[in-house]
Amino acid sequence: MKDLQAEIQLLKQKRKAIILAHNYQLDEVQEIADFVGDSFYLSKVATGIECEVIIFCGVKFMAETAKILAPDKVVLLPENDAGCPMADMITEEDLRKLKNAYPGAPVICYINSSAAVKAESDVCCTSSNAVKVVSSLPDRQVIFVPDKNLGTYVSQRLPAKEMVLWPGHCVTHAQIKVSDVEAVRARHPQAQILVHPECDPSVVALADFAGSTSEIINYAERSAAKAFIIGTEMGVLHKLKALRPDSQFLLLHPGLVCPNMKKTRLRSVYEALRNSQHEITVDEDLARRARTALGRMLEMAK
Ligand code: 13P
Ligand code: SF4
Repeated sequence: MKDLQAEIQLLKQKRKAIILAHNYQLDEVQEIADFVGDSFYLSKVATGIECEVIIFCGVKFMAETAKILAPDKVVLLPENDAGCPMADMITEEDLRKLKNAYPGAPVICYINSSAAVKAESDVCCTSSNAVKVVSSLPDRQVIFVPDKNLGTYVSQRLPAKEMVLWPGHCVTHAQIKVSDVEAVRARHPQAQILVHPECDPSVVALADFAGSTSEIINYAERSAAKAFIIGTEMGVLHKLKALRPDSQFLLLHPGLVCPNMKKTRLRSVYEALRNSQHEITVDEDLARRARTALGRMLEMAK
């Protein structure tokens, strides 16, 4: 493993590459990355980065977003089939039909979506800025795709908005049930329960805090509590344990492992650098339209 890490560092310099990793990546991948964070942070990093190659350790929509925001860079996704089932729950065709059914309503698309869906949208958002983005729009009625749970989370905080939601969801977060929260509260009454807004609204309602992966990490870092129950993918435990070695962390559900996020290993990063694989390309017209929607998000969420 040490040899592979050293090889990666050498290749990285040779290729003038930067490694970005999402908070859900394996510990070994987070450790060799130059930047680790949530999807909003990684989008901002990709926009301003100085390098020739971006190795994106995450899932396809994230690497595609980096390519759209940094079109002059070579963007590589180490595992070609690391996708996001939620992003696949809506197509551009579905979205066009929805737009026809609600003419005039602007479309906000969660960044967990394809480039084609972003291109059909007015503005993108991530879980850390969804409320801010939706509240910045003057329209009362808005279309929000594809995550119904994040959409519900936003609509509960912005009751004046009429939000048309699409029934997409994250299969990993959907496993958490109210009974899991009740059981953990009974067993660990002092612990803080921190969840991602991709969880079912009934679960979010019982939590002490809901936020993006980085917001969960920041919350725990600053909290006076010493025990935390985490309702998001287990990759966040890596940073949490490093930042709060004095605290106890438990997962709200044993199945909180995103199989797609876990495909990337040190070996995949090494192969990606050595063989320039797998290069992300986005059709120019789609990229231009998707860039507008992403650019509006970056502007609104500043
Ligand atoms: P964040 O934007 O919080 O990093 O979440 C991305 C994601 O895919 C959550 O499942
Ligand atoms: Fe997609 Fe869920 Fe995995 Fe996030 S955790 S990448 S939403 S499948």
